[in-house]
Amino acid sequence: MKIIGTGSSLPKKIVTNEALSELVDTSDEWIRTRTGIRERHIATEETTTSLAAEAAENALKSAGVAPEELDLIVAATVTSDRIIPMLSCEVQARLGAKKAVAFDIGAACSGFLFALGTANAYLNTGKYQKALVLGAETLSKIIDWTDRSTCVLFGDGAGAVVVTSEEDSLLGMVQGSDGASGMALNCVNRMTDNPFHKAESTTFSYVHMDGPAVYKFAVRTVPKAIQEALAEAGIVADEVDHYILHQANLRILEAVSARLKQPMEKFFTNLERCGNISAASVPILLDEVVRAGKIQKGDIVVLAGFGAGLTWGACVLRW
Ligand code: UT7
Repeated sequence: MKIIGTGSSLPKKIVTNEALSELVDTSDEWIRTRTGIRERHIATEETTTSLAAEAAENALKSAGVAPEELDLIVAATVTSDRIIPMLSCEVQARLGAKKAVAFDIGAACSGFLFALGTANAYLNTGKYQKALVLGAETLSKIIDWTDRSTCVLFGDGAGAVVVTSEEDSLLGMVQGSDGASGMALNCVNRMTDNPFHKAESTTFSYVHMDGPAVYKFAVRTVPKAIQEALAEAGIVADEVDHYILHQANLRILEAVSARLKQPMEKFFTNLERCGNISAASVPILLDEVVRAGKIQKGDIVVLAGFGAGLTWGACVLRW
């Protein structure tokens, strides 16, 4: 599998930390020093589908691939506009990618890494040659905008890559899950409420997070996952040119960089401008740095995601 095109899309509306401090008891200073986030994009006119479709079009254009050539569309999201049809199928319809098999996967902030792994497994069967892999979220729909411990963290957006089986640049890939610790980051779906069973509540719940628990999990697990992917690739951390990690918190990135003994200069970030966009954060950041010409052919790139589930994933690519 090789990534041959990238694309992204962010909502027009930007919400600053100052604007949030008018909504809840917080401050720009608290948000910046605890997370590194200054502002985030929030969908007002856009939907998860419109953002994903725009990111997909940009990725297809940069890959020089027509929608009709796609064999597969895998979308990672926890905030599709509808439960059915799935985001991937809505994007397929918008693109006119008639030949593609399309389905969604849910692995929250690790979703893009899991979707990339799924696409790789499909390509390896030999039946599929070109795939579109998406990470797209409008987390603003599932955030409690009166809860200062979560509403300052998240943003909306979509990222996409086009991958082909014609070349191979994947050197190592690992994924993992720890369902037993899953309640540290949760959001209840609508409850069973029918003539046979009355729900305790029919109101939709919002994201709840035990921030410190998830923080500790991330700092412990991400360096280990990266080391495992590097071992599979047969290379060491010093040989990596760029680290593109899920953008949850600058302090987490700094802790990972310290544990791997790698300089922060190797870690790209966009969380200052975008906040945490769950499954979309890795492909959006990847697209931004590719378009800025910051990754050269032959560079070794590590991608890593972590979050709800709990889940984690890392991969090593030769660009
Ligand atoms: O993408 C999925 C993965 N998610 C993550 O990786 C997130 C991991 N967790 C984190 O990044 C951090 O835990 C947070 C940024 C969420 C929180 O930072 P923290 O340093 O762990 O703060 P805390 O939760 O321990 O809270 C410290 C204090 C508390 O007040 P007291 O109890 O010390 O009086 C909170 O009530 O900060 C308070 N607080 C706030 N104050 C101002 C919590 N949120 C805010 C806020 N503004 N927005």
